[in-house]
Amino acid sequence: TPVGIHDLSFATTHYALDHAVLAERLGVDRDKFYLGIGQERMSVAAADEDIVTIAAAAAQPILERHGADNIRTVLLATETGVDQSKAAALYLHSLIGLPNAARVVELKQACYGGTAGLAFAAGLIARDPSQRVLVIAADIAKYELDTPGEPTQGAAAVAMLVTANPAILALDPISGLYSADIMDFWRPNYRSEAIVDGKTSVNAYQKAAQEAWSDYRRQGGRELSEFAAFCYHQPFTKMAYKAHRHLLESQGHTAEAADLEAAIGATTTYNRTVGNSYTASLYLGLASLLDHADDLTGKALAMISYGSGSVAEFFSGTVQPGYRAHLRTEANQAAISSREMLDYDHYRALHEAVLPTDGAYHAMAEETRRPFRLAAMSGHKRIYEAR
Ligand code: CAA
Repeated sequence: TPVGIHDLSFATTHYALDHAVLAERLGVDRDKFYLGIGQERMSVAAADEDIVTIAAAAAQPILERHGADNIRTVLLATETGVDQSKAAALYLHSLIGLPNAARVVELKQACYGGTAGLAFAAGLIARDPSQRVLVIAADIAKYELDTPGEPTQGAAAVAMLVTANPAILALDPISGLYSADIMDFWRPNYRSEAIVDGKTSVNAYQKAAQEAWSDYRRQGGRELSEFAAFCYHQPFTKMAYKAHRHLLESQGHTAEAADLEAAIGATTTYNRTVGNSYTASLYLGLASLLDHADDLTGKALAMISYGSGSVAEFFSGTVQPGYRAHLRTEANQAAISSREMLDYDHYRALHEAVLPTDGAYHAMAEETRRPFRLAAMSGHKRIYEAR
């Protein structure tokens, strides 16, 4: 029985910052961002948003369409966790009504976590095809102000219902894997912003993608020429082009600009304006491809996941007949176009704000117009509400 993505839904934050505003502040040409890294805007969390509120907003439409029956596993991947012990997805029970008869777990391995969730889900469904697994990838990417990483921030959540006989994408059982212990990007427990060695991370990403591809081939995977499109993890959209050029050239192919555009272009439309969303970024790329490419029915897609530190996976799938009727293109575009644009001072204030740690009651400023908000902190607990 084929197993894969039956439904896919995306949510992002209330605010966004245009890279022209950031470029002016940093005194750089805005084309360094628009063209050089391929980013035009980035989503920014409001004071009353976190990964739980955007994860709930992404998952709710899936439960509305398909119900919660037989969702016996919920896997939420993030590297923006709100607690060291409790899984973020447990808060979703009260917000969107997850089943109590379910295992609910948080997964972490930098930007790779969502792919781990998808792989674990496929294994559980292979064991019992009547079960369904809800996989959610949610992150808010944050780097220090006035650093090279700052223009590669962003935020999004992607929720996927993984089932047997999926309506959108059937996953091939073969995966190529590559893991290595490196320090290219990390965030110690005491920090709210990631630390990154930019150039090292770009090189590590390219090497890992190529190694995962080699393993995929050794496992009996498809040829490069079989894929209609290549969906890469996108810390910034230019990275997908760089990595694909590197992969093609490593296999003795030339990488003409038009070929790269045909392979990558449609996967980048959403990420270009949402920014890096870590675990969600690859799946936002998939949503973008499905929403913007010509009919992909029966076509094979390559998926290339990378999480710093590092783990990479090269996997693939086949787009299912009738998939277009199951897409959420309008809702996805509305999530992006409805964001409120920030000026620099407001962006900076949000960036510098820290949550109270004294355990007293603190109401959060009412900012977001999204379906869920972080209403308060009280007794060291996060209090959420539906709007
Ligand atoms: N017009 C057009 N292009 C311009 C330009 C202009 N005016 N000015 C500069 N550029 C181009 C540069 O030529 C360069 O292009 P190439 O990469 O093709 O050479 C591009 O803009 C970027 O310029 P720099 O290399 O000078 O940029 P930088 O050093 O300031 O920052 C970065 C780049 C190091 C990647 C930085 O964005 C960063 O640290 N980002 C965070 C780390 C990251 O995203 N790493 C990716 C791999 S790790 C990963 O994938 C996991 C994850 O999610 C974090």
